[in-house]
Amino acid sequence: MSAHLLSVDSLSRDYVDHLFDVARRMEPIAQRRKITRVLEGAVLGNLFFEASTRTRMSFHSAFSRLGGSVCDTTGFTFSSMAKGESLYDTSRVISGYVDAIVMRHPDLGSVAEFAAATHVPVINGGDGPGEHPSQALLDLYTINKEFERLGKALPGAHLLLTGDLRYGRTVHSLLKLLSLYPPMQITLVSPPGLEMPSELIDRAENAGHRVSQRDTLQADYSDVDVVYATRIQKERFTQEMVEGFSLSSDFSVDRAFLDQRCSTHTIAMHPLPRDSRPGANDLDVDLNDDPRLAIFRQTDNGIPVRMAIFATLMGVADTFDRDLRDVGWQPPHRIGVDDADFIALK
Ligand code: NCD
Repeated sequence: MSAHLLSVDSLSRDYVDHLFDVARRMEPIAQRRKITRVLEGAVLGNLFFEASTRTRMSFHSAFSRLGGSVCDTTGFTFSSMAKGESLYDTSRVISGYVDAIVMRHPDLGSVAEFAAATHVPVINGGDGPGEHPSQALLDLYTINKEFERLGKALPGAHLLLTGDLRYGRTVHSLLKLLSLYPPMQITLVSPPGLEMPSELIDRAENAGHRVSQRDTLQADYSDVDVVYATRIQKERFTQEMVEGFSLSSDFSVDRAFLDQRCSTHTIAMHPLPRDSRPGANDLDVDLNDDPRLAIFRQTDNGIPVRMAIFATLMGVADTFDRDLRDVGWQPPHRIGVDDADFIALK
């Protein structure tokens, strides 16, 4: 494990197990019952050169809840990159200001290039269609927690990944991460032209997973444990692709799909944002009060997982819970209006 978190490639099973253990210990803080100041005095540089709400804010929140403070910059327009500055210069300069960096950038490989110019830990918050390792970690953390609640196990599970598997970086990182685990069945369902890159499929197969590909959701998925839907990433399409794009069939994951094609114990996940406009063919809002919808448990889990990533990279994973204090304010009993009992704050 390097001092950065750039790709799932650098992760070992032991590292991930340890990280999840740290994330579990972070939960009282993430659930607003305890306070730590273990990163007091440290500053995070949150550099987002591509659209983001949850990734940027959850890294910000996670660092703040560890007692650190955050400098933020968004978009190219107001950055020196708009004046032609290189990633090397930006990296070196920002490294003099902050103690950890999260970066999102539209170009594949750009975050790694940025990280090569600094000794300050850098976390890849998404490099174009490349990777999004912290999302994959929180996704797997969520799957583990959901399986624990449902009395299921990861080995032998059946996961269905659907949507834009070509440009969706979250599914690239997730599929790589699953390769560290015992064999599972993985079904990939995408519109023609948006299939998972073949090298990632080969890698999953080499790790022992049984991978199958389809181009329609109109099939029997009654033994599927997890449906992981993704948004069609039209912003990454070439002009030609935008003009020629039409869906061959219905890719929306809605209540009818879960009721008719899946089972009462299938959970629905999504990295978000989901496209909630009518006809978007994404994860449907009609599942909002359905306990199978795990997307908000997933986003909530992003906080302890990102806190664990910072704690691990910054050397406080073993010490942060030595001097926890109780919160002095009244946290809500439940976060969302449709939250089921099992995610109520304890
Ligand atoms: C995703 C991303 O930016 O890769 N969102 C996220 O970070 N949770 C998915 C997307 O944009 O569709």
